[in-house]
Amino acid sequence: MTSTNSTASMGLIGVGTMGAALALNIAEKGHDIALYNLQSETIDALIARAGELAPRLSKADTVEALVNSMPTPRAIILLVPAGAPVDASIDALVPLLEPGDTIIDGGNSDFRDTQDRTKRVEAAGLRFLGVGISGGEYGARHGPSMMIGGTPSAYAPIQPVMESIAAKYEGSPCAAHLGAGGAGHFTKTVHNGIEYADMQIIAELYGMLRDGEGQKPAEIAPLFRSWNAGRLKSYLVEIVGDILDAVDPETGKPVLDIIVDRAGQKGTGRWTIIEAVRLGQSASILEAAVGARVLSSEIKTRGVASEILEGGTLPVGTISRDDLEAAFFGARILAYAQGFRILRAADQEYDWGLDYVRIAEIWREGCIIRSALLDDIATAFQNDLPRGKLVLAPEISALVNPTIPALRRVVAHAVMAGLPVPALSSALSWFDETRQARGTADILQGMRDYFGRHGFERVDKEGTGFHGPWAG
Ligand code: 6PG
Repeated sequence: MTSTNSTASMGLIGVGTMGAALALNIAEKGHDIALYNLQSETIDALIARAGELAPRLSKADTVEALVNSMPTPRAIILLVPAGAPVDASIDALVPLLEPGDTIIDGGNSDFRDTQDRTKRVEAAGLRFLGVGISGGEYGARHGPSMMIGGTPSAYAPIQPVMESIAAKYEGSPCAAHLGAGGAGHFTKTVHNGIEYADMQIIAELYGMLRDGEGQKPAEIAPLFRSWNAGRLKSYLVEIVGDILDAVDPETGKPVLDIIVDRAGQKGTGRWTIIEAVRLGQSASILEAAVGARVLSSEIKTRGVASEILEGGTLPVGTISRDDLEAAFFGARILAYAQGFRILRAADQEYDWGLDYVRIAEIWREGCIIRSALLDDIATAFQNDLPRGKLVLAPEISALVNPTIPALRRVVAHAVMAGLPVPALSSALSWFDETRQARGTADILQGMRDYFGRHGFERVDKEGTGFHGPWAG
């Protein structure tokens, strides 16, 4: 099929790994799709391996040919790298499209860019959707979780396609229109912030067993596999079992032993904590995860430091596996709680009207952080949360409270043994700060007033701007 005789109403620009997988998913659900990629050979290769889906895929050699090949109204998905390539694609499309056509950015864009692009594209008389798509290549091919932002009228014509390609949880599509402009991309960003935290917690538990007890990856694998059969059931725990067991075919060593301990990051985790701070929220567990990736990249410094800085460690015994499991579960709950607080603060700021039940529901399948816990979180949001705080919901506090003694023992053990547990310890500190009815900010206020006469509130009087009895 050539671009000129395509009957596609869907189009896709950016046929990389994710784009190719999503195109096959769309085709499989019975929709024709026109494709454009800078390197057109990737489309030829995709069509060649598409089998019975090939007739639904058509190749366009230029953006103009892509647009001309599609009947109106058109919906063109961009799956190009975030940043300038998205703007370049929009610039190329806008003069070619007609009112009623929609540009859909399916990449991991910064929600601020999405807010601006929405205005820009709408000012040109067109429609724009910013869609956070989670699930990696497998998800894109077989059903991702999709967080959609934009106007309801832009989403309406696309909704059947999106719902058909989305992952399903007990038959319900994991795709939801969450609000205007950047609502979808913001939610995806926070999803990734939680993803970073959950991954970091896993890395810390792995480190406690590898460095604390000298266990080999394959010896640790059964523990993660057993966890995946219980309340920690989740995609990330599942894949960790496979990763721990994998052997490098070249050397015969565990794959983990040949991977350099330097983590990449494309920005979404960092954006989550930047936005959290802007919104006046503490996202300490997520920040710990981003910070750990940053430090991981300083390999030379860590090598030198390992010779200069002494651990001052204290002897510890073997850590209980049940404690590790409970600590993981507790810290996971607290990381989700921080993520949802960021969403809530952003919702108040941008007036998106986010539906937290739907967000928890569409994260139950397809996405990277899918886990059994999300069902409990969805239930907690269904039953009005006290003050909107996830950890205070009876369903959630009943889950987290019993894990805390174990979380304390695990963090204490790691601290004594000199094993870094930034996410686990941040989770515990955040929990303790949150439950402290009278905190220690009285002395912060005292110091601020002492050196700068900034004033404070009194516990026994109404009003602000009181000062202490210090000179000056
Ligand atoms: C997803 C993932 C995905 C992300 C990768 C890598 O939900 O499918 O979040 O969107 O790109 O996880 O992210 P980093 O490179 O930042 O680790």
